[in-house]
Amino acid sequence: MAAKYALILAAGKGTRMRTELPKCAFPILKKPMIEYIVEGVEKSGVEKIVVVVGHQRKVLEDLLTDRVTFAYQEEQLGTGHAALSAADILKEKAGTTIILLGDMPLVNETLIEKIFLSHEKSENDLTVVSADFKDPTGYGRIIRDKYGRIHSIVEETDCTEEERQITEVNTGLYAIDNKILFDVLEEIEKNPYKGEYYLTDIVEIMRDDYRVGSFVIREESRVMGVNDLYAISRVEKFLRDEINKRHMLAGVYMINPETITIGHNVSIDGNVTINPNTTITGNSTIKSGAVIGPNTEIHNGTIHKDVQVKHSLLYDSTVHERTTVGPFAHLRNNANIGRDNRIGNFVEVKKSATGAGTKASHLAYIGDAEVGSNVNFGCGSITVNFDGKEKHLTKIGDDVFIGCNTNLIAPIDIADNVFIAAGSTVTENVPAWALAIARNRQINKADYAKNLIRPKTVKPDNGTEKEKKAPTSLKKAD
Ligand code: UD1
Ligand code: CA
Repeated sequence: MAAKYALILAAGKGTRMRTELPKCAFPILKKPMIEYIVEGVEKSGVEKIVVVVGHQRKVLEDLLTDRVTFAYQEEQLGTGHAALSAADILKEKAGTTIILLGDMPLVNETLIEKIFLSHEKSENDLTVVSADFKDPTGYGRIIRDKYGRIHSIVEETDCTEEERQITEVNTGLYAIDNKILFDVLEEIEKNPYKGEYYLTDIVEIMRDDYRVGSFVIREESRVMGVNDLYAISRVEKFLRDEINKRHMLAGVYMINPETITIGHNVSIDGNVTINPNTTITGNSTIKSGAVIGPNTEIHNGTIHKDVQVKHSLLYDSTVHERTTVGPFAHLRNNANIGRDNRIGNFVEVKKSATGAGTKASHLAYIGDAEVGSNVNFGCGSITVNFDGKEKHLTKIGDDVFIGCNTNLIAPIDIADNVFIAAGSTVTENVPAWALAIARNRQINKADYAKNLIRPKTVKPDNGTEKEKKAPTSLKKAD
């Protein structure tokens, strides 16, 4: 088989999006649009991938780095002009090039392989990929001659009323002999109305001297082009359904799956339950027995076996076996929670690791800390990691009890088997087996409150609040 190349056009601004980001970098299920198509092309095994960038080129270059070769289209003068920008890189190569638009995130390797195959079998010089759309609005229409051969592609804005009724559209995908491509690109003339060079003109240029054919796609949604934010929502819906179905058939129990969003690169074992309003994206992995959600967001998370996460946020973090997270916990920036932990209500963990069996059940902040096993963080305890200028490390050994409302002023080292009294602000290291108390001793000033409190509670006699009723029945002795 001839060598294969891919040319992806992604230099446009995406004016119809009305957003700041260049269109092809816009996220779909939290992953930039362009990465979908590049991934599909990579998997289809082409020799070279060229991406044409222009508007805010750096954004796309930073996303794709050395996965592809970049061509630069300085001024966005149309799709034909964009393809020509790759001449220096591709022109001399013999083989077949697939041209793709960067705004078609649902194109996958299966489709790409089919297009190459059809192109090769039919021995075409150019294969235009078309589809029959229920609503063809916005797409270029395929004009065929009386023999059914493809005659030209007319952009909607240039269509006659009659042409506008045609429902066969140009998907924007083409397979073409590479050398012929760069010859004919030179021949495209500026469209007089729009002032752009239309790639679609290659059909008319080639139809008399070359073999021009078409490959008609049945799956309409797969080749949807994204031009505006409504299309983004449609693509996300399509992907969400497709991805959820795949997971459900593989044994993931999803409750109310319309409210569950799973990213493209998330791996989930069978025997996992996902509750409503849950989003799992990025490079996340969820192991068997885990129960995730409701109302949970996980991005780049690794969740080990039998973990429970509910009503919580987890970013770039790992949770080991049987640990429970939430409700209302926030794990971020490389939190690495050991097995059999409990990270409870309103607990935030940042860039910290814990050993096995550690618990922070309510209202705690654990940041920049190395925490041992079986540590108990009392309610309201805090690692004070920031001195206003720099972040500092807190080290806590195994079997440490941290009383409620404790401040551990970092840098600090709490050894194994330490007990810290509630309400302490600990500024010095604590050695093993010590009890640390770092708070003022209490003073009770007798009767002093009489100057401060005017009681409102009506009391029947002096001092004792209501006479205590004698118990009506006595508890029976066992
Ligand atoms: C294009 C096709 C249309 C097809 C539709 C399918 C043309 C003239 N029209 O229209 O027939 O039905 O796609 O979705 O080709 N780009 C550049 N440089 C430019 C202009 C565009 O790189 O100067 C890139 C864009 O970044 C985008 C892609 O080419 O990724 C398509 O451009 P867009 O403006 O979206 O074309 P459509 O109007 O959708
Ligand atoms: Ca488009």
